[in-house]
Amino acid sequence: METARSNPKVNRLRFTLNGRQVEEARLSPTTTLLRYLRDKLQLTGTKEGCAEGDCGACTVAIAESGPDGRPQWRAVNACLILLPMVQGKTVVTVEALRGEDGAYHPAQEAMARALGSQCGYCTPGIVMSLFEATYREDLKDRPWKLDDQLCGNLCRCTGYRPIREAADRVAGSCPADRFAQGLAQAAPQSMELRLEAEGQKFFTPVRIGALWDVLDFVPEARFVVGGTDLSLEVTKKFARPPVLVSLEGIAELRELKETEGAFRIGATVTISELEAWAESRLPSLARMVRYFGARQIKHRGTVGGNLCNASPIGDLAPALMSLGATAVLVSRAGERKVPLDAFFVGYRKTALQPKEILAAIEVPRPGPEARAVCYKVSKRRELDISTVSAGFLVEVGADELVIRAQLAFGGMAATPKRALKTEAALLGQKWAAATVEAAALKLAEDFTPLSDHRGSAAYRARVAANLLRGFFEETRVHAQPTLTSRHTGTVQTYEL
Ligand SMILES: Cc1cc2nc3c(=O)[nH]c(=O)nc-3n(C[C@H](O)[C@H](O)[C@H](O)COP(=O)(O)OP(=O)(O)OC[C@H]3O[C@@H](n4cnc5c(N)ncnc54)[C@H](O)[C@@H]3O)c2cc1C
Ligand code: FES
Ligand code: FES
Repeated sequence: METARSNPKVNRLRFTLNGRQVEEARLSPTTTLLRYLRDKLQLTGTKEGCAEGDCGACTVAIAESGPDGRPQWRAVNACLILLPMVQGKTVVTVEALRGEDGAYHPAQEAMARALGSQCGYCTPGIVMSLFEATYREDLKDRPWKLDDQLCGNLCRCTGYRPIREAADRVAGSCPADRFAQGLAQAAPQSMELRLEAEGQKFFTPVRIGALWDVLDFVPEARFVVGGTDLSLEVTKKFARPPVLVSLEGIAELRELKETEGAFRIGATVTISELEAWAESRLPSLARMVRYFGARQIKHRGTVGGNLCNASPIGDLAPALMSLGATAVLVSRAGERKVPLDAFFVGYRKTALQPKEILAAIEVPRPGPEARAVCYKVSKRRELDISTVSAGFLVEVGADELVIRAQLAFGGMAATPKRALKTEAALLGQKWAAATVEAAALKLAEDFTPLSDHRGSAAYRARVAANLLRGFFEETRVHAQPTLTSRHTGTVQTYEL
């Protein structure tokens, strides 16, 4: 029975679409934004290719507040966004780009002039990615950022050269047009929501206290944030989760804080926010995140979602474990902290108790002597899932002796896991090639990897050992090396 504690109270979905207010109260909460646009509104410019975040045909733009509080246009995959996730937000689809005077948006103009469109099916999605690029001020400082902006958009007919040329023309041009001016009014409003329709419920509390009230009311609820994992159950397995509780509206879960000794990363910080923030603070983490999905995925996927799905090949876990991270878990009973190594208790199982959430991750600041690098090995460099991933941190003290070794791997066991025997083989030894060779042999005692379609057990074991060797070679030159724009290998090589 519904009680006074069944917050929140807002029971209508309200958002702005192409400059008009939209209200809905009767749609299934697992209707995707893509299906809503195409089926209900006949806005068919937004296409469906894969319905799993891989092709970018469904790209639309949403105004999201950046770290400085200023709203920015963000390209996202409409196929993975459940409609309640746009509560209080401003959405723009490709139909709105052409002005009332018939003038094309600079992103459309650039695509046409560069001859970047043939069949046209992928074009609207590419244009929407270029739409985000048009207003980005940080795109031109590194060449790889342009590739990253577009790597979530597939086009098999025109080829990428003219499309990249279009991106080059328009990216960062920041025209003072109606979209730039409209951004000021497009700051996201409260996401508070309680939607009940077609036998399903969707709650978005906006305060942590209200979250506990909701959970008392619907203890069977599943959490969701970006939906880049969970929405696949809807689009691929046609699941209809009966009760979802979104953590996206709770501002305190999205904070990035730092003290003298540590960093605190809120669980709902998105991967793109993490990437920009970590670049100067935790370069090894930023390096791991560079090849995390594509830009559209990075805008929706979150730190907490990546850890709580407990995938053995999730990219953040080995990176954060190597940095000695701690998971901060919160429930109505209070807060408890669990070392990230102990957070993963089995295949896709975490230490979270019912009605408990991951609120943040705490990462101690690496010392000045720390050498730290993360590696991701996948069949394709961009927009692919890891076959093996690794995060390494080693500190070398007096006489070149190893005083700290934290080595974590993904894809080598049923959970992301530290290589404790290999670490022990390094501790107290001279940081030298012979030590690394001896330690690499211990990996066979730490892991018995499986064979699957991504790689055989033997391949995984070989890759893991090679990454350790590569880490030694790379950190002989730079303690925390970042990736160059056009690197040729997973491990970077330098002239010694
Ligand atoms: C095309 C594509 C590419 C991808 N590429 C990568 C990649 O390169 N590397 C990679 O590691 N992953 C990748 N992913 C997976 C996914 O994007 C990430 O795991 C992402 O970080 C999930 O975050 P989310 O907020 O979208 O999770 P959601 O889908 O919202 O949630 C995932 C799970 O975590 C739970 N959950 C979420 N937050 C919390 C919390 N704070 N407390 C308790 N439970 C919580 C939810 O209940 C759900 O079970 C990819 C996914 C797609 C579709
Ligand atoms: S339809 Fe392919 S990414 Fe959405
Ligand atoms: S324009 Fe058709 S596949 Fe790209």
